[in-house]
Amino acid sequence: MKGKDLLGLRGLPKAEIVEILDTADRFRKVSERRIKKVPTLRGRTVVTLFMENSTRTRLSFDLAAKRLSADTLSFSASSSATKKGETLMDTARNIDAMKPDAIIIRHSAGGSAHMLAAAFPWAVINAGDGINEHPSQALLDMLTMRDHLGSLEGKTVAIVGDVFHSRVARSNIFGLTTMGAKVLVAGPGTMCPPSMAHLGVEVRHTIDDVVEEADVVMMLRIQRERLRPGMMSSVNEYSHFYGLDMDRLRRASPSTLVMHPGPINRGVEMSPEVADGEQSVILEQVTNGVAVRMALLYLLVGGESAGGKSDEA
Ligand code: CP
Repeated sequence: MKGKDLLGLRGLPKAEIVEILDTADRFRKVSERRIKKVPTLRGRTVVTLFMENSTRTRLSFDLAAKRLSADTLSFSASSSATKKGETLMDTARNIDAMKPDAIIIRHSAGGSAHMLAAAFPWAVINAGDGINEHPSQALLDMLTMRDHLGSLEGKTVAIVGDVFHSRVARSNIFGLTTMGAKVLVAGPGTMCPPSMAHLGVEVRHTIDDVVEEADVVMMLRIQRERLRPGMMSSVNEYSHFYGLDMDRLRRASPSTLVMHPGPINRGVEMSPEVADGEQSVILEQVTNGVAVRMALLYLLVGGESAGGKSDEA
């Protein structure tokens, strides 16, 4: 990778996405060994700074750093001095004084990762900034798709639900279109407005409009914390019109993959039968998340080209 940070997939060249996915592919082997550790980042310090809740992303980055032998520091909004009124920049200045090598940041404000990246010399990885981007999630999604579909070129990916408020959707749209996939989005007009077409996607308004032609159906969580009054009539009505159940999934090809970034609201975005069914690759996404995050830390913090370290991966 050419830059010092990973802030988003908008504008990231195809060659760099392929480099990350190929590196992750090699790092998967580490997690399959009895001793799940390589010395690649020994002596380096990786800080996870999560100012919004997370299960998958935080654990996954933490595990990835540990499997690369980095020293890890982890703190969250509830345990940090931001509770006492300290600003994000002052928090970052204090972390900087401890000489970290990389910071993984999740924050409710779009642009927070960019602000740190511009101000400090260490690598910044955006683990989700408001409704803007969540690039490592999209990369692990693309790795999972690639495992099943081979090339992403010419494949059709449908993203269903609250696309407008979804940083996962935005990063996937940027990454998938760069990789040559066709992206369909569907959801209520308040969550999937026609203006989203400027991102290079086709905007549809019913889930039935997209499942039949999709190689992948990616369902999104309803983000109640980001919805304004009037954006959704009721959860039941949303689920009736936009939820993925077995009847709807039967309209898709048996080879169509079902994905969800998590956390799932079972019975809202998808029925439990779909979430746990044969077409679901949701837990494979989680497994691939560790490999993708190892690859990102290696490429951004390791400081050597992927080829030069392939013996360690
Ligand atoms: N997919 C995702 O970002 O999940 P978490 O919020 O649990 O990190």
